Amino acid sequence: MPADNGVLEIVICLGSSCFARGNSENLAIIDKHVQSLGLKASVHLTGKLCQDQCKQGPNLIIGGVFHHNVTSARLRELLEQQGNPLREDHGTS
Ligand code: FES
Repeated sequence: MPADNGVLEIVICLGSSCFARGNSENLAIIDKHVQSLGLKASVHLTGKLCQDQCKQGPNLIIGGVFHHNVTSARLRELLEQQGNPLREDHGTS
């Protein structure tokens, strides 16, 4: 969930294991999501080095919640679950 200031914090592990296991693609997915929906002001994306949880990677923290084994499909689900205040049709299905 976004913080009280409306900004969603996303932290992506850019350690070599997570990067090779899928965070390279996940980074592109997040970037595309932010760009295509015009969310630059409401998403704060940062990268971190290895979090010593490589075996459970690729790892991401979204809205303060640690997520493991984040496939590209799972990432898309997680991003959708965060909501998008700019899309009027969100949550109506
Ligand atoms: S590279 Fe991500 S936890 Fe080690």
